[in-house]
Amino acid sequence: MFEQPSFFIYIIIYLRKGTNKMIYFDHAASSYPKPDSVAHAMHEAVSSYSANPGRGGHKLAERARSVINEARKTIASFFNAPSSKHVWFYQNATMALNQALLGFPFEEGDHVVATKFEHNSIIRPLERLVIEKKITVTYVEPNVDGVISVDAMKKAITNKTRMFAISHASNVTGAIVPLREISLLTKEKQIMLLLDASQTAGTISIDIDRDGIDLLALAGHKSLLGPQGTGVLVTKGDFDLRPLIVGGTGGHLSHLFSHYNGLNVMKLEQ
Ligand SMILES: Cc1ncc(COP(=O)(O)O)c(C=O)c1O
Repeated sequence: MFEQPSFFIYIIIYLRKGTNKMIYFDHAASSYPKPDSVAHAMHEAVSSYSANPGRGGHKLAERARSVINEARKTIASFFNAPSSKHVWFYQNATMALNQALLGFPFEEGDHVVATKFEHNSIIRPLERLVIEKKITVTYVEPNVDGVISVDAMKKAITNKTRMFAISHASNVTGAIVPLREISLLTKEKQIMLLLDASQTAGTISIDIDRDGIDLLALAGHKSLLGPQGTGVLVTKGDFDLRPLIVGGTGGHLSHLFSHYNGLNVMKLEQ
């Protein structure tokens, strides 16, 4: 399974020998080079409207806000989110996954099923939740072919299982999970499905409705060919996620003096 790609890599290196051209093989970490359209859009942003979106009502801030809203709409339609309000921007997939996991209203004793293939950006927040919220986690082993089977996922379920937190494709082996079968299982057992699509968004078609995903975390800077510093969380519903970071936009100060409780959950109607 693993000999084939390295064989092609040797051929490419051989053909390129002596041309002095760099061969970039780190696309799974971040894609390079980015398309010209991305460079142009970034240049236009910093040179034509780099005001602070949502912090001012002047022309440039409004333009920045409207470009961001358009991006939200495009992403919502790309992944078939219920609306653009279900799209949350972060600095990378790590932060989107941290938001989905650390912000989820887990209770003591809740159980999460992940796999042995997870990236640290799932494992570390989960291990923090084990310590801080006293949840438990089962990491499912792949089968002999290196694939995570639905059967193995099913066997890991307990009556406390609240969430499956799994990668669509492993960043180490490239193995893809049988997503639709897994999501049939999560729907049947009323378990939340958090999908880490860092390695697949932009490469494999993802539709959160068709594929039964509740929380979809992804990087904008890998196969979607966006710039560094881009990550997204797409939510199927309003799961009362507690925001990782509070502050930001200047509106709604009246909350501070009335019913604001300092906890602040992510509400879609806001
Ligand atoms: C499967 C997987 N999840 C999460 C991440 C983290 O992505 P980011 O670099 O955007 O934080 C990566 C990055 O390689 C990944 O491969």
